Amino acid sequence: MVEGWPEPMVEGRTAVTGHAMYYRICGSPNARSTILCMHGGPGATHDYLQPLSDLVRDGHRVVFYDQLGCGRSARITDTSLFSLDHNVLEVEELRRSLNLGPVHVFGSSYGGTLALAYTRAHPEAVRSLTTAGGVADFPLAISEMRRWIAELPVGAREALRRGEEQGRFDAPEYRAAMNEFYRRHLCRRWPMPAPLAYSLENISQPVYLYMNGPNEFTIVGTIKDIRFVDRLGAIRAPTLVTGGRYDEVSPRVAEQIARAIPGAELEIFPGSSHVPFWEERRAYIDRVRRFLGRAAEPPRGGPLVPRPPAECGS
Ligand code: ALA
Repeated sequence: MVEGWPEPMVEGRTAVTGHAMYYRICGSPNARSTILCMHGGPGATHDYLQPLSDLVRDGHRVVFYDQLGCGRSARITDTSLFSLDHNVLEVEELRRSLNLGPVHVFGSSYGGTLALAYTRAHPEAVRSLTTAGGVADFPLAISEMRRWIAELPVGAREALRRGEEQGRFDAPEYRAAMNEFYRRHLCRRWPMPAPLAYSLENISQPVYLYMNGPNEFTIVGTIKDIRFVDRLGAIRAPTLVTGGRYDEVSPRVAEQIARAIPGAELEIFPGSSHVPFWEERRAYIDRVRRFLGRAAEPPRGGPLVPRPPAECGS
């Protein structure tokens, strides 16, 4: 059980692609806008995104959910459904099922990947896009994790190397080295905030192992080859790309996304790693608040009027 959610709050389950999906809605149904939050892992739960619910105080309604196979949603086991395409479909069905209308999307880590892919697939449904430690190029993110590993103390590096060689990800010295990496690059608040610990302890092993791999820096699952940076140029939604200076998904990955999306804003939090919304909560939420304030304004010069296609031969 995780405490700390603001009132009013409703929880429930709704059918999404024929399976029960858990959701949590914080804020008033008459809120001025809706923020739809997507968790990472893949396989985690929504709980670690709790700080985003601070935005209820600004009149937003904030919606969280657990992806199918995860958390309090149906623990489906059909691995053909553990995919980015299916996760996009889930978001759209959830949005329609809860009658949310156009939403501001927020995604953390793989949830950022999902938020980017969803925005590409359903531009009409997205008022703005925010990513935190999001990835549009896993090969780059993975090589950047290797760079962080190269900066660990020699003992930790050796323990990781031995564990990988022997496939012994549970050996105590391997786990100690993994925790060293996590303290530096996953969450620099240690012990971790309870909702983050909850999301990690309750991660869906079938989803995580299939899509990600045995831990955060050993990405050998199906997401390892996902790369769609060259398709981000079509995004027109106001975009805020965020990350931490020490993020396991390094600032280079964030910079790459921000460069690819026309007009995107980039914010790297200097004292943070992968969860800046916990590590620098107040500054983070303030930054998102200011961005959403601007993103909610009507486009300058009034609505865009599409130009009719040129006449043939003109
Ligand atoms: N394991 C990374 C995440 O948290 C990719 O989604």
